[in-house]
Amino acid sequence: MTILVTGGAGFIGANFVLDWIAGSSEPVVNLDKLTYAGNLQTLSSLEGDERHIFVHGDIGDTDLVQRLLREHQPRAIVNFAAESHVDRSIHGPEDFIETNIVGTFRLLEAVRAYWGALPEQQRGAFRFLHVSTDEVYGSLSADEPAFTETHPYQPNSPYSASKAASDHLVRSYHHTYGLPVLTTNCSNNYGPFHFPEKLIPLMIVNALAGKALPVYGDGQQIRDWLYVKDHCSAIRRVLEAGQVGEVYNVGGWNEKPNLDIVHRVCALLDELRPRPDGMRYAEQIAYVTDRPGHDRRYAIDARKLERELGWKPAETFETGIRKTVEWYLSNQDWVDNVQSGGYRAWVEKNYGGRSA
Ligand code: NAD
Ligand code: DAU
Repeated sequence: MTILVTGGAGFIGANFVLDWIAGSSEPVVNLDKLTYAGNLQTLSSLEGDERHIFVHGDIGDTDLVQRLLREHQPRAIVNFAAESHVDRSIHGPEDFIETNIVGTFRLLEAVRAYWGALPEQQRGAFRFLHVSTDEVYGSLSADEPAFTETHPYQPNSPYSASKAASDHLVRSYHHTYGLPVLTTNCSNNYGPFHFPEKLIPLMIVNALAGKALPVYGDGQQIRDWLYVKDHCSAIRRVLEAGQVGEVYNVGGWNEKPNLDIVHRVCALLDELRPRPDGMRYAEQIAYVTDRPGHDRRYAIDARKLERELGWKPAETFETGIRKTVEWYLSNQDWVDNVQSGGYRAWVEKNYGGRSA
């Protein structure tokens, strides 16, 4: 038996592949386009391991996907591949439409044909798990209850709108064609191998480089944070026991304003790698112009996943964020290598014109 993972050289996909190989003898075919967010160095510990078959390519390349399905006959597909950064979707939405909507559609079409031709028993056991986000539900006010799986879709950024569209396509392939799909909608992940364009790794990397820590607006936007390994365990559990056609919210029960997150990262760095001049990292915080259309609050109600499938996160925010900061301090090579010219150009584009 084999599974096909898409986007398995990115942050969550690579953590998923590494954990899968560590815990199972079942091979993984890993299809990834290696955009700026995909990084084979993250998977270097799997070099020479025959259970990891890396394929450089696009989920929208129908011929390639059909060939992979034919050759490897996967029993399941876990679809992580996406453009994932909200700020990039604001500067240039087209790639998000291309991968998140058109790419998912083409992948679904190839999978539908493959699944439809499987012998009956394998057809019944097959699963297509689509990894999505809490951002499709829109923004909450301070006192509204957390998102449940039946919350209306109200995406506000080109990123979340493209993910919402992909969720709808996945749903429709189950409803119309009977494709055995599962969808997970997860909150903000953090942990090892997180590309430093996102809040937590950006703050760690900038703090250590003595640069400003750019907090958008008033820093009081709230996100729910989940350690990436917990997201991976939730996906494994849903793949194993989720009800076909169902949606599962995944979250960490850990809502925090951005400013609190930044202060916690700074305090950990003060403890683990104090500044040579004796100053505190929090003194590097700089308030900058807000993200356009910035969602104020996300909160995830993950009780369905706990009630029906017995999943709960293993890490608290305190244990997870400490592991994360320690990981960045001990993996300077990885951190240096991802800050390429392309990365520096992005930083200039996103932060250059942002007044304090
Ligand atoms: P990421 O940006 O770190 O990685 C995305 C990966 O997909 C990269 O390796 C990239 O090369 C690959 N990719 C992009 N376009 C592709 C294409 N057309 N074909 C094949 N591969 C392609 O993203 P991430 O943070 O790991 O997120 C993974 C998934 O989880 C995404 O679908 C995202 O929407 C979802 N998600 C992310 C979070 C989060 O906090 N990061 C939370 C909830 C859901
Ligand atoms: O909620 C799940 C989503 O979480 C995923 O679907 C996305 O793929 C993932 O990127 C993440 O989206 P966010 O926009 O919430 O993550 P980001 O790390 O970009 O920002 C987190 C919060 O921090 C957000 O309110 C914006 C703010 N922020 C971010 C950056 C990069 C800042 O204040 N300053 C920054 O420099």
